Amino acid sequence: MPYLVQDAGHSVGVLALVDERECNGQVALFHLLIDASRQRGGYGRAALRLVIQLVGSLDGCQRLRLTVHPDNHAAVSLYLSEGFTQDGVTDDGELRFSVAVNRASVSS
Ligand SMILES: CC(C)(COP(=O)(O)OP(=O)(O)OC[C@H]1O[C@@H](n2cnc3c(N)ncnc32)[C@H](O)[C@@H]1OP(=O)(O)O)[C@@H](O)C(=O)NCCC(=O)NCCS
Repeated sequence: MPYLVQDAGHSVGVLALVDERECNGQVALFHLLIDASRQRGGYGRAALRLVIQLVGSLDGCQRLRLTVHPDNHAAVSLYLSEGFTQDGVTDDGELRFSVAVNRASVSS
């Protein structure tokens, strides 16, 4: 599922979600990208929070997952500051991160 990130009708970025709930109760986030001229303006964090909210509203979804290159300090910093934790490393060296999105059902 591709998404445009927009502000007042202007496109500032993109992202994609893959629904994996039937396999593992998760949704995967791919390709979060904010236009270079708009970076550091809060759009990445705002988009990520909206994704967490959206995914948390889906039946049967416990976690949002993604992978990130270890040298991508901007993205790693963003994900850690939004509560993601590292679950492992992919075969090609990317960090596996995930965050609980439906805290009420997880804790009950
Ligand atoms: C990673 C990315 C999505 C962040 O989006 P953004 O709109 O620039 O980020 P925000 O302005 O919302 O900043 C949120 C946090 O990200 C981190 N961050 C963003 N840019 C950073 C930079 N250049 N250096 C260090 N940290 C950075 C900071 O923790 C920041 O919080 P702070 O402002 O309180 O310090 C953006 O840099 C991007 O599109 N990068 C290229 C594509 C990419 O790498 N995507 C991630 C794939 S996993």
